Amino acid sequence: MSFPATRLRRLRRSDRLRALVRETRLDLDDFVFPLFVGPEAFENPELPALGRHSVESLAAEANELERLGVRSVLLFGIPDEKDAEGSGAWDEDGVVQQALRALREASPGLVLLTDVCLCEYTSHGHCGALDGDDVDNDSTLELLARTAVSHAEAGADAVCPSDMMDGRVAAIRTALDDADRGQTPIVSYAAKYASAFYGPFREAAESVPAFGDRRGYQMDPANVREALRECELDVREGADALLVKPALPNLDVIRAVRERFDLPVGAYNVSGEYAMLKAAGARGWLDERQAALESLTAIVRAGADLVVSYWTKELAAWL
Ligand code: PBG
Repeated sequence: MSFPATRLRRLRRSDRLRALVRETRLDLDDFVFPLFVGPEAFENPELPALGRHSVESLAAEANELERLGVRSVLLFGIPDEKDAEGSGAWDEDGVVQQALRALREASPGLVLLTDVCLCEYTSHGHCGALDGDDVDNDSTLELLARTAVSHAEAGADAVCPSDMMDGRVAAIRTALDDADRGQTPIVSYAAKYASAFYGPFREAAESVPAFGDRRGYQMDPANVREALRECELDVREGADALLVKPALPNLDVIRAVRERFDLPVGAYNVSGEYAMLKAAGARGWLDERQAALESLTAIVRAGADLVVSYWTKELAAWL
């Protein structure tokens, strides 16, 4: 049948009809809110979700998030001091470890994910230990593994390696198992691209590389088959879930990963994606809420089971 018998507009005639046939819905259970914790709290009026908490101010924020219905957070730490190896990352009394203990106590029901990477902790801002100007893959693995174990011991529900070193999922899995943390899942940022859209995050997390860029370890945005190879390796090394990042420029990658693997697939709706719509909304060029909901719906429609987004807190109020 075709026009005029078939008229697709019939099911678009009212809000209720549209809702009845809607294929994709946003569910707060699937959303993760990133939280930054550092020595001092400060607000970021233009990009509120990229503000910073102190260990002390975190408990109140967690309670507020739980009251709104947010289920999961992803913690990033900004240490007081940085060094060449990024030793603050695995310090038992490091900022994330303290934050985890505080949150475990204040909000036992909140799911606590941690970003496992060294770039916020290294004086040079790269994601691993250096050998000359190069990020040395194999000596970094042990540092990442130590970091992941210290997060698990401080109360993390899952660890999320975002460094893009080869072999890090296996190294972390072995270290967790050896430390009697066999129950801690690894949510791997398996397909993480070298992206311009991380700009606002790097300002917020003070992790702009002191020289060069991250293209020697993060993926080339031109590649999708390579993303599937990254995922394949992480699955074999023991990843429990796979993340694609950034989300909006890579909806095809999310879809490809969804079709190839049966693990939970997540997408990270990154800082630049958030900042673009915030800026355009503030200028009156578009309606931020509508644009954000449309973006998040597209990410879920592409196949993401879970979404890390700076809009999660606002989304809780919108839904
Ligand atoms: C750490 C890390 C980054 C992001 C998440 N984890 C920055 C980077 O790789 O440079 C970016 C998140 C965002 O932009 O929202 N390596």
